[in-house]
Amino acid sequence: MGEELIGVKNSALSLILDCDNLKELEELKLQFLGRSGKLTLLLKELPKLPLEKRGEIGRLANEVKKTIEETISQAQEKLSNQNSQNKIDIDTTIPGIKPDIGHLHPMTQVLYEVVDIFKRIGFQVADGPEIETDYYNFEALNIPKDHPSRDTQQTLYVDTRNSRIAAGETLLRTQTSNMQGRIMEKIKPPFRIIVPGKVFRYEQVDVSHGFEFQQFEGFAVDENIKMTDLFGVIEYFFKKFFGEKTKVRFVCHNFPFVEPGAEAYISCNVCKGKGCTFCKNSGWVEILGAGMIHPNVLRNVNIDPNKYHGFAFGVGLSRLATLRYQMDDLRLLTNPDMRILEQF
Ligand code: PHE
Repeated sequence: MGEELIGVKNSALSLILDCDNLKELEELKLQFLGRSGKLTLLLKELPKLPLEKRGEIGRLANEVKKTIEETISQAQEKLSNQNSQNKIDIDTTIPGIKPDIGHLHPMTQVLYEVVDIFKRIGFQVADGPEIETDYYNFEALNIPKDHPSRDTQQTLYVDTRNSRIAAGETLLRTQTSNMQGRIMEKIKPPFRIIVPGKVFRYEQVDVSHGFEFQQFEGFAVDENIKMTDLFGVIEYFFKKFFGEKTKVRFVCHNFPFVEPGAEAYISCNVCKGKGCTFCKNSGWVEILGAGMIHPNVLRNVNIDPNKYHGFAFGVGLSRLATLRYQMDDLRLLTNPDMRILEQF
């Protein structure tokens, strides 16, 4: 009987230690300690033993019972601890952490698209300073100091009182046209260039005007450039950018650095021409100034106006972006609120 007890103990312990779930453990407990469990049945045999052996075997049987019970309860504790840890590790019902993925600012997206469209028709891209001299922003563009057209571009001058620069000589550029002189001084025709960039004006800020906004200048010079080339390029651009249905309208306008000069309007795509605050209820949005480069401008950069002709245009890039994204307020473009930016 002693050997049988030891045999039951050994098989119980090895099964318990191999067991890896609580349900099976419960079954093992019944199998050994239950009412008709292996150990219980053996214990029932005890009274049948001769008296002199009963004491010794009785002690052994108690030990075996105690060992099995203890091992089972240790295993139970271990498995239930493991279970609660596992739950944390693999609980698939806990929502994941979504990483924030950044993207380009709507202004930059529009800029890249513009550059892409002009590159297809042979335009190169240039860049230039935002703090500019009076010469490149005005004089080189046939706008002398006393010219009335200066009034239309309220200028922010840089305070140069603590420097050697004369007052009124340095300003925040009011137009990307400043780059016409800078570039044409350096390169020989023929060329086709676009220059995107920020410009600044002392303006009353409202839904369609900002004191800081973006433009891009485009200009091309060659021997046989005509006004119709300008119209063709402008129409090509707007149809590619806004879709083939976009209408473009040209109206005579004076800019001292072009002759003849024009302004172009496109059909408002915020209201589809019906009229809204953005197009001042006209159905049309003024989007660019353009014209044939004035002979004086070409002379200022040593290009012979009798041999070469060119066209130039300046487009409101910020305005393009608001139209593209149907924003009815230009100020949304400079608002850093993520709730706005995440929509584009
Ligand atoms: N620079 C002008 C403006 O900002 C636009 C323009 C550019 C007009 C080129 C004619 C030619 O209003």
